[in-house]
Amino acid sequence: MRYNPNVQTVLSLETSCDESAAAILRLEGGKLQLLASFIASQADTHAQWGGVVPEMASRMHLEALPCLIRDSLLEADLDMNGIDLIASTVAPGLNGALMVGSITARTLSLLHRVPFLGIHHLEGHLASVFLSDNSPTFPYLVLLVSGGHTELIYVSGIGKYKLMGRSHDDAAGEAFDKVARLLDLGYPGGPEIQKCALNGNPFKFSLPKGRVSRPEGGFYPYDFSFSGLKTAMLRLVQSLEKKEAELPVPDLAASFEQIVAEVLVERSLKCAHDLGVNTLVMVGGVASNLRLRDLMQTRAYESSISLHLAPQPFCTDNAAMIGAAALFRLECGVTASPIDLGVSARLPLEKADCLYQKQAPF
Ligand code: KG4
Ligand code: ZN
Repeated sequence: MRYNPNVQTVLSLETSCDESAAAILRLEGGKLQLLASFIASQADTHAQWGGVVPEMASRMHLEALPCLIRDSLLEADLDMNGIDLIASTVAPGLNGALMVGSITARTLSLLHRVPFLGIHHLEGHLASVFLSDNSPTFPYLVLLVSGGHTELIYVSGIGKYKLMGRSHDDAAGEAFDKVARLLDLGYPGGPEIQKCALNGNPFKFSLPKGRVSRPEGGFYPYDFSFSGLKTAMLRLVQSLEKKEAELPVPDLAASFEQIVAEVLVERSLKCAHDLGVNTLVMVGGVASNLRLRDLMQTRAYESSISLHLAPQPFCTDNAAMIGAAALFRLECGVTASPIDLGVSARLPLEKADCLYQKQAPF
């Protein structure tokens, strides 16, 4: 295998759910350079079914990847000889979908004699904040809000994660998607709710800020629950349907968006305050929500917290964040993942180090 520590250019692939993506990044003198990033979203296809159909996702990744890789190389003005490392998401996500990216990456790695790095999808989201001009310095607290995860993570370095809080039921993005379906808005629900909420009153309806009870009494201060909010929305819609000729969809969307933003902001700031951490990072698909970004900015400023938001184009799934995570792992001394590394639908972020052991963990 060829490994040149002075030239670090990565070709990265992301296929964990319904976005097929490829990117090329370079790390030069500690500075990240994005040379190319392409995403083929499958959202329109899955929208017809109201959610992701795993079998269709895998097939569409297979169809999309060759062109995405070709376009990335063209955009970066490189051929495979200019690539020093190939990375792909290997966990967590849809098994079949992950397998497409992983097999493509491992085959290219063998053919072109460059190392392969399997990347944890959430580590990719965490790395997305470094694609901005305003990178944070360790340690910091991260609010990771996506379609599959809502977590507060204390990060003291690359690969050094401590889970501080999490959702006990739906992830915030999942709640956006389900409530959008209830309001007859499109899929994915987050952007649709955001668009519709622009014309609504966010304080029209009072909704619950789901809390998670402790068996010994009281509440977990940094945990989340969105299933009660989803049920409250359903009840509210049912009662309005009985009373009103037309459902006030923009007010419902805005009130839902507002309460989710308040809960996420309040618990993140409380966690940062209790930890004595003055840097907060927000990443993941839901982090592209404008109301949430605005509220987080205002409240962080009031609390003298330095806030770092992932750039909007890199909040939702993309391959640039996977490439960034791979380059950071390389910088920390990781040289490769085993070539027989498989994929895992579930792997906690704190176990991401296992992807770089000699023996493949799965
Ligand atoms: O990070 P992501 O692309 O995929 C996962 O890793 O899950 O996040 C997708 C989620 C979806 O649930 C989508 O509805 C939500 O992010 N989302 C948004 C917005 N854009 C995407 N939620 C709220 N507001 C948005 N603007
Ligand atoms: Zn994601």
